[in-house]
Amino acid sequence: MPVFGLGTWRMGEHRERFAREADTIRAALDLGIRLLDTAEMYGEGGAEEVIGDAIRGRRDELFIVSKFYPHNASRNGVVEACERSLARMACETIDLYLLHWPGSVPLEQTFDGLRELQARGKIRDFGVSNFDQADLEEIPAADRDMLGCNQVFYNLAHREVEWDVAPWCRERGVPLMAYSPLDQASGLLRSAALAEVAARHDATPAQIALAWLLQRPDTVVIPKSAQIARIRENFAAVDLRLDADDLAALDAAFPPPAGPVRLGMR
Ligand SMILES: NC(=O)c1ccc[n+]([C@@H]2O[C@H](COP(=O)([O-])OP(=O)(O)OC[C@H]3O[C@@H](n4cnc5c(N)ncnc54)[C@H](OP(=O)(O)O)[C@@H]3O)[C@@H](O)[C@H]2O)c1
Repeated sequence: MPVFGLGTWRMGEHRERFAREADTIRAALDLGIRLLDTAEMYGEGGAEEVIGDAIRGRRDELFIVSKFYPHNASRNGVVEACERSLARMACETIDLYLLHWPGSVPLEQTFDGLRELQARGKIRDFGVSNFDQADLEEIPAADRDMLGCNQVFYNLAHREVEWDVAPWCRERGVPLMAYSPLDQASGLLRSAALAEVAARHDATPAQIALAWLLQRPDTVVIPKSAQIARIRENFAAVDLRLDADDLAALDAAFPPPAGPVRLGMR
């Protein structure tokens, strides 16, 4: 799985912007970005349609992640939701298919459906999103070690996952996919500590926030931008290397959790 992807939340919400959004995604692929993250929820299928347009003729180069609603997580529900997503993206396979957040359908049913999709070649791999440790423990034992990832809210200002979720995943070789890695362009990007580290590297705060995540073990980032200049800026973070002084300064400004904390969600 590529370590850097493009998020697509808030894309596909307005039909008049579809063509421009597809152009932006195509330009991101031209830069070398190979992972796209989407969900049936984004624009109620609109983001998947935009992706379908953008990836025409180049599907094989890419790693596509999509997610299904918890209300579609029954055995048949997940199969049908996947067929709809594939039709919108006009492709044969989703590389990694995730339950968007924990719901009320028993997970045995969900994972039966996911295994069926995998056996039929409709998905290559499956996983979860927004699962805390208790949720992860409820996954049928045989499926736990097979998880392709847990996609979680994770950035410098929100390190809740580090208490128990990240160690749980690491022990089982399950990658973390950090969503909202820029904390949705909130105060994080204006932090003095981030600016100081950024100045040392002749980089931007967004690049440092992403580089920090990329240096965490088994962590993938999926920042979203609808602006190609920012996508280029963000993608350059893969070439940055933070040293021990940088990491100490960031730890001091954004300390890891000192005890159990509820997993955040956006
Ligand atoms: N599994 C889940 O429950 C879940 C939840 C949330 C998100 N996600 C996924 O994760 C992706 C990323 O998360 P996110 O969209 O919530 O937040 P994010 O990537 O942390 O931040 C996106 C925001 O930052 C801005 N931005 C991007 N690059 C920037 C830069 N270099 N400098 C300044 N501002 C910048 C974007 O604006 P512009 O577009 O105008 O550049 C946008 O407003 C989503 O798109 C989605 O695919 C998953």
